[in-house]
Parts: sequence; structure tokens; C-alpha cells
Amino acid sequence: MNQFGLDVNGLSKIYANVEGIAGGVRNATFQLPPGTFFTLLGPSGCGKTTTLRCIAGLERPDTGVVRVGDRTFFDSERHVDVALNRRQIGMVFQSYAIWPHMSVIENVSFPLRVAKDRSYSREEIRSMSLKALATVDLEGFADRSATRLSGGQQQRVALARAIVREPKLLLLDEPLSNLDAALRDNMRKELKRLQRQIGVTTVYVTHDQAEALEMSDQIAVLSAGDVVQIDTPDGIYFRPRNRFVASFVGNTNIFDGTAEGGGETGAVVPVRVKSGEVIRGRANRPVRTGDVVTMSVRPESIRLSSAAAPDDRGANRFRGQVENRGFVGNLNRYDVRCGNELIVANTGPRTAIAPGETVFIEFDADDAIILADD
Ligand SMILES: Nc1ncnc2c1ncn2[C@@H]1O[C@H](COP(=O)(O)OP(=O)(O)OP(=O)(O)O)[C@@H](O)[C@H]1O
Ligand SMILES: [Mg+2]
Repeated sequence: MNQFGLDVNGLSKIYANVEGIAGGVRNATFQLPPGTFFTLLGPSGCGKTTTLRCIAGLERPDTGVVRVGDRTFFDSERHVDVALNRRQIGMVFQSYAIWPHMSVIENVSFPLRVAKDRSYSREEIRSMSLKALATVDLEGFADRSATRLSGGQQQRVALARAIVREPKLLLLDEPLSNLDAALRDNMRKELKRLQRQIGVTTVYVTHDQAEALEMSDQIAVLSAGDVVQIDTPDGIYFRPRNRFVASFVGNTNIFDGTAEGGGETGAVVPVRVKSGEVIRGRANRPVRTGDVVTMSVRPESIRLSSAAAPDDRGANRFRGQVENRGFVGNLNRYDVRCGNELIVANTGPRTAIAPGETVFIEFDADDAIILADD
């Protein structure tokens, strides 16, 4: 299969609603090499579906450029706007958009039967549809009625229909959100395997951070219409740009403080936080003495040890008191009071520190990120 990259530049689409509050997406810009699995991640209403619909041609952007391979699909300045059915894009949406009155193969072959830009012979239609069904592991289901399928199978039919014409681009809008947890987990892996196999550049929409981290090559985190950060899953998780990304992707402890030293990006800098303690953290931006900064420390980077036997390995060590222990099976989640900071620390499932006990909190400077922005 030919592979195509996606180039989105300065894409904006603003809706003004009755209260005058603008929803939509502002100035989205990203370049995806061919074969990329790219995810738009963010809370409800942040503009994920709007962005996807603009790329598809279901929505007309206010401004911007959308290119797939060397073809321009949309360019507001040059007045280019290629019709939806000429963009060769495969799409799957959240709800099962398969037709219940048709058989599985009739559903899958639909895009071939209605194609306007070329006609397919009866044999081509059957062989291409069966190939798409085989790709989603539904070979034996061709003649079954679409209603006699489980939710997961229905989504796979929708996927087969999306890839049957070997699209240049695959757009998936929360395709797994109607499935139960176990099936969703399974389908994540299936979908990722399938995307690798056919190598099609994919834009995936989800508000589920675990899904985004597990499946993506690159993630764009959106907040209220703005793309806040684009990075690898590692980058998003370990080097979040600001407190929104740090808190939305995973859990974290946020500390506000004032730098007591300076350094370039990557330097370890001491920061006095509100409790009066000094935390040594890794700077994700140049810092000068006196700068007001925000730090993020993941609960799993924090070690707890009893006051009698401090661990003493971390660059940061504070005494605190356990206020609460939440046992959630695979880990314990402790709330530890250190002055006026309440710090969340996750430890192994077998630790059992009772509320009221005094503990030492320890973590490395590398795990205390001084964020680039607030
Ligand atoms: N056709 C429309 N007319 C007016 N406002 C709209 C329209 N479509 C979307 N919006 C608004 O634009 C914003 C972004 O909507 P969008 O559907 O892109 O969000 P989303 O990130 O996909 O959210 P969700 O996770 O809930 O699907 C929302 O505030 C929404 O109310
Ligand atoms: Mg949406």
C-alpha cells in the first residue's frame, strides 16, 4: 500500500454559540510522517471531533491548510476545498454506524459500490471486501446479518468498511468507547496491530489517557480548543509542558514555589515551595533565581519509608504524616501531610502504613519536573 503523511497547518474552526462562548479548535498545526498513529487527547468539548471533521472535509475550517501526501485537500488562502468523497479517507465513529438491514459484506463493500471516482467489478468488490474482513479477523462472517454481531464485532465491521478502499488516511473518533472495559482493552491491541499491518496514517480521538499512551506514536493534548503539547507518549507523561497536561495525563502532585537558584533547561534547581521546604527539581525551561515556578511529581516516583529507617537515596526528603491509605488492589495510594502540602504517594500493594504514622517521603530531582509553562 502507498503511504501518505498528513500535514495540518494553522487549522481553525470556531463556533460561536448563543452565550457568545466560542467552541471549536484554534491554530492546530502538526506534521505526521507516513504510517504515524496520532492521537488527539483531551477532555469533553476541547475540539477533538471538530479537528477530525475538518480533516475529513465534513466541516469547513475558517482558516488553515490540510495536505495528505502531496495533495492539498484544503487551503483557505488558495480556496482549495476537495469534496469529502474525493479525499479517500476511511472513518469510524463512536456509535456503531453500520447498517442493520444489510449483511456484513454488504456493509463492508458499501464504499466500493457507491464510489463515484471509479467503478469496481462485482469480483473486485467481493475480493476487496473479503480481504478487509480478513484484516479484522471476521472472515467467516461475510453473509451474517449485521444485527447478529457483538458490539466489538460491529466496530470491526465498521473498521473493515473504513479500510476497504485502502484509504490514504484513517480517522477514528472514540471508536472503542461503547465497548465494555475488557473488550476495549483487547480492541486497543487489535486496532494497533491492524494499523501497523496496513501502515495507514491514523488520527485517533479519545479522552482516555491510557488508550492514548498505549496506542500512539505521537499525542496532541488539547484544552479548550488549543493544542497544548504534541509529543511521544513518554514525552507527554514524563515531560508535561504545563499543569494541565501533567494533571490530565496520569495523576500528579503539583507544587507552586519560587526558584532559589538558576540554570539552563535540564539543570537541577532548588525551589522553595509553600510548605517552606526546598525541593530540588529538573528544569524544563531556563530558570532564574526568584522565578515563580510550578513543579510536578508523579505519585509513583515517591518512596515512603518509616521514620526509623530512612531510605536516604533521594535528593528530596521530607518528614510527613500519613492521613489516609487507599488500597486499590495493584497499589496503595497514600495521602501524606507535609506542613500545608498534601502529597499523594503510590506504593506497592503489600505496604501497610497506618494513618497517623510518621514517614519519610523521598524522591529524586529527576522526578520533580519544573514545568515549562504554568
Ligand atoms: N456544530 C456546532 N455548533 C456550535 N458549536 C459546536 C458545534 N460542534 C461543536 N461545537 C462546540 O465546539 C466545542 C468542541 O466540540 P467537539 O465536538 O470538537 O469536542 P470534543 O473534544 O470532540 O468533545 P467530546 O469528547 O465530548 O466528544 C464544544 O464546546 C462544542 O459545544
Ligand atoms: Mg467528540
